[in-house]
Amino acid sequence: MSDAPVGAEGSAPPDGDAAAGFRPPASLADFAELARAVLPREVWEYVNGGSGREITLAANRAALDRVAVLPRVLTGVDAPRTEAALPGGSYAMPVAVAPMAYQKLLHPDGEVALAAAARAAGVPYVASTLGSTPIEEVAGVGGPIWFQLYWLRDRGMVADLLDRAHTAGCTALMVTVDVPVLGRRLRDVRNGFTLPPHVTAANLPGGRNDLAHQGIPGVSAVAAHTGAVFAPALSWADLAWLRERTPLPLLVKGILDPRDAVRAAETGVDAVVVSNHGGRQLDGAPATATVLPEVVAAVGERCAVLLDSGVRSGTDVLRALALGAAGVLIGRPMLWALAAGGRAGAEAALALLAAELRDALTLSGCADPAAARQLRTLIVG
Ligand code: FNR
Ligand code: LAC
Repeated sequence: MSDAPVGAEGSAPPDGDAAAGFRPPASLADFAELARAVLPREVWEYVNGGSGREITLAANRAALDRVAVLPRVLTGVDAPRTEAALPGGSYAMPVAVAPMAYQKLLHPDGEVALAAAARAAGVPYVASTLGSTPIEEVAGVGGPIWFQLYWLRDRGMVADLLDRAHTAGCTALMVTVDVPVLGRRLRDVRNGFTLPPHVTAANLPGGRNDLAHQGIPGVSAVAAHTGAVFAPALSWADLAWLRERTPLPLLVKGILDPRDAVRAAETGVDAVVVSNHGGRQLDGAPATATVLPEVVAAVGERCAVLLDSGVRSGTDVLRALALGAAGVLIGRPMLWALAAGGRAGAEAALALLAAELRDALTLSGCADPAAARQLRTLIVG
């Protein structure tokens, strides 16, 4: 046996094969180094960077690490169940794959590979408006596919996207509200980051997509493109319009202030996602674990509360549940796994997360995720 990183180059089977053959690292977080080894530097920085001084990016991890969960003992739990209800159904664990743009940057199979891995793991895959594969092709994979909507300047295009998502069979809609413009990601600015020719905004028609490919020193082409096509001034009236227009479960992603969470619940959404976009939008915004308890208390039973930004392990899922979340979105680790091993890598990552969650539930004396929501927490350090 060599000391080469497991799962790295050469050891992954061709895609379409089962996950068998991909030797996963010891933890979900360990996928980061496997990805870094195979990705061009500017892609690694686009994926892992945050906005501004990356204060919020760092705060997400620090806040989760300060959440100490008090385990219960003598509960007689042998093998906990990880199944949990999220909007639209019951899933294998209280986790959905976060919407993330341009997955062909990580691997030629992109969105289809990650959606297939989510299906195999029994968790929802959230398909981004900025996917590099059309939503119809992603939905063709089967499994629960949710559509993530970015509001475009052209309301006709928004309506078209909704119709396409419905027709393709998406089972929930997630509207992201924290991107009036893209945050200033200094790494992308310094790299003059552009999408390579084979990676395109496949859901969006129109000439403006060229902007994402135009290399201008000192400009992030991804930011220039979103600046041209995203509607910067979304309002509560737009959310109410969306609620009227779709019969699907509706989630709002990018909430931090409890007052906004309450207003969203009053507008009839099924869930809010407490998110700071992985530290990629307003730098200096609080960590999600810091504000989650206040949001949970404010919305009460009016809607479900999910969390993302910094989740890297089954222990982090347990922490979120103990703070009152119904579940989490798993973001960057899935892109690392996709880069490291395509579909097989992503399947291995979700299997590892499920195993970590089972261990965390067992060690805290919980029979299931519902029991974990009764655990007490201390903020330490
Ligand atoms: C994102 N995120 C995101 N969110 C969204 O609603 N639509 C999108 O298209 C994208 N695109 C995107 C690309 C990349 C490369 C990243 C890293 C993130 C945000 C994502 O859904 C989620 O909120 C964060 O990834 C959570 O933070 P962590 O856990 O990845 O640190
Ligand atoms: C990002 C956008 C595209 O975070 O959501 O890069």
